[in-house]
Amino acid sequence: MARIAVIGLGYVGLTTMAAFTELGHSVTGIDLDKKKVELLHKGQIPFHEPGLQRLYKTLFESSKLDILESYEGVLQKFEFVFICVSTPSSPTGQADLVFVEAAITSVKPLLATNAIVVLKSTVPIGTSVRFKNELTNQAIRVAANPEFLSEGTAIEDFLNPSRIVVGADDKQTALEVMALYDNVPGSRIICGLASAESIKYASNAFLALKLSFVNEMASLANATGASMADISLGMSLDARIGDKFLRPGPGWGGSCFPKDTSELSLTAQRYGSRMLTVEAAIESNRATMVRMFEAFSSQLGIDLKGCKIAIWGLAFKANTDDVRESPAIEIATMLAKQGARVTAYDPLVKRLSLSFLHLEENPLDACFGAEALLILTEAEEFSLIDPLAVKERMAPNPAIFDGRAIINLDAWSPHFKNLKAVGQ
Ligand code: UDX
Repeated sequence: MARIAVIGLGYVGLTTMAAFTELGHSVTGIDLDKKKVELLHKGQIPFHEPGLQRLYKTLFESSKLDILESYEGVLQKFEFVFICVSTPSSPTGQADLVFVEAAITSVKPLLATNAIVVLKSTVPIGTSVRFKNELTNQAIRVAANPEFLSEGTAIEDFLNPSRIVVGADDKQTALEVMALYDNVPGSRIICGLASAESIKYASNAFLALKLSFVNEMASLANATGASMADISLGMSLDARIGDKFLRPGPGWGGSCFPKDTSELSLTAQRYGSRMLTVEAAIESNRATMVRMFEAFSSQLGIDLKGCKIAIWGLAFKANTDDVRESPAIEIATMLAKQGARVTAYDPLVKRLSLSFLHLEENPLDACFGAEALLILTEAEEFSLIDPLAVKERMAPNPAIFDGRAIINLDAWSPHFKNLKAVGQ
């Protein structure tokens, strides 16, 4: 059992804190956001992540967790200090390290000698080495331990990971950090600091690139009469391609892919080279959103101005309430800018400060009087809705565009003449 401090109690930090506690470590979470700490002290987490609220509440109520809003006087006792603060994109597209720099500056004078600062936040390649050089004169060690958590499956991804990566300049430090995961299955990789940082960026950028390709292939399938479902199946049977991340959609979003692809391409430029594939993936993703907006608009066949449009799904993916960089929000905005009256429903997004978007409590109410329905998040519940119930609420001869290819076209096509799906 180790004594661990987790700094930054967002989606990664809270998952890390709860999971490490489950693994038997003594964990204290620290966040400078007083409102967030106040909520956490009530046993509540400030966002939706399946299973995390229940796990956190159980651990908190059994006094296994300590939540603080200051570093003062406490850091001396920890052997490991995990930095899990956010590294959002700055206006230039580079990762903004303001929170990481502030955390390191604050903890530096307070740490025990020989403590290990573990960077779990996604930081640009070369950052960990810089911090190591800064902290070495205090005999404080640095390791990089990138997370591979997906929203909606964060706890499972932490406790049953495809791999655990620990980067450090010396093997002993890496082994001490890796030992925290002794009770966790999965492949282990010990490598250098820059390699660990690069594995994170390379993995996300490659997944984004794969999706950009899939979305372009789906558009071609629509044009040629091919089926993206069949194409994806055919591709997936090649072990070198794999069967994941082959579903077409309105583009990729979230708090990771957009910022990580942008940072990686800028990192390459900072080192005097270019990652044209990553730049192309970013450009292609933007084009996917515009292409879906245009395909839907031409399917409608009428002027968007004053047209009532229902949207199912606002989050950037299913099983999350996260709308950061959501393609659904991008496309809803494009429709509203053309004068459409947009009403939306999302299973988890219940508040949104977008004046042009009216949120409904359920999917059928969102369809009331609508001349078109656009599905933009792959929530399973959408595939279970009775098409007849939808038809009864919509305007005559509505247009239906399934931007995620998740509804059963055989069940819907008897009721809707103007019915299309991405890639089908
Ligand atoms: C991602 C990585 O998967 C995770 O390993 C990393 O730690 C953080 O970034 P996340 O951002 O939660 O996780 O979302 P992910 O599940 O990867 O989906 C990213 C985007 O791709 C979403 O917009 C999703 O809708 C889209 N997507 C995913 C598709 O359009 N089709 C697919 O088949 C899969």
